[in-house]
Amino acid sequence: MVKILCINGSPRRGGNTEAVLREAIDAAAEEGAEAELMNLVDYDLKPCTGCEACFEAEACTIDDNIEQVFEKMRGADAVILASPVYFFNVTAQMKTFIDRVGYLNIARGRRPFRNKVGGAIAVAARTGSSDALSQIALFLSASRMITVAPQVTVLASEKGDASGDTRGMDDARELVANMVQVARATASLRSARLGNAG
Ligand SMILES: Cc1cc2nc3c(=O)[nH]c(=O)nc-3n(C[C@H](O)[C@H](O)[C@H](O)COP(=O)(O)O)c2cc1C
Repeated sequence: MVKILCINGSPRRGGNTEAVLREAIDAAAEEGAEAELMNLVDYDLKPCTGCEACFEAEACTIDDNIEQVFEKMRGADAVILASPVYFFNVTAQMKTFIDRVGYLNIARGRRPFRNKVGGAIAVAARTGSSDALSQIALFLSASRMITVAPQVTVLASEKGDASGDTRGMDDARELVANMVQVARATASLRSARLGNAG
């Protein structure tokens, strides 16, 4: 069964990004896939220090939850990165995730995330979603993942607003359906990679 990891970059619990991802999880179940929500705010993730020790030892020297988060990524066929827009880009939590997990992926030989399927969602009150979506899409590309359309913007400000953006919610459901389809069609590319460890 296709496994989708839904990563929430919002520091606000029960907020709009979480609501969009819950819609995505429902859509995944309808498509016969398994989806899990991961709130980055629940993990201790410190910013990258640029020490580059990961290139020597393939492990990070910062003592936090990075390995747990990395293993969740490694175990997924498909990953949705969803972030609220904070000053025209992703949140600090999402950027920290990108820097830490992204660099470890590069440090670990042939990039364990290669050919995983990726999707991008940005939630904005009004403006800046294009830059946030570009940031996520560039990360997926740098990680050698397969980026699936559509890139989703949901317009929402106060908690609970997301459900009012029916077009954005429909786009999120379409993204999930497309990701499941692409994940099924590309399963052999991932299983060929020594159980994804290579
Ligand atoms: C520090 C901060 C910066 C924000 N910057 C923007 C912004 O640049 N553009 C925008 O449209 N909304 C901005 N917002 C609004 C949030 O993107 C919006 O409220 C979103 O629904 C929050 O998602 P959440 O409920 O999942 O946390 C900002 C909110 C905060 C707290």
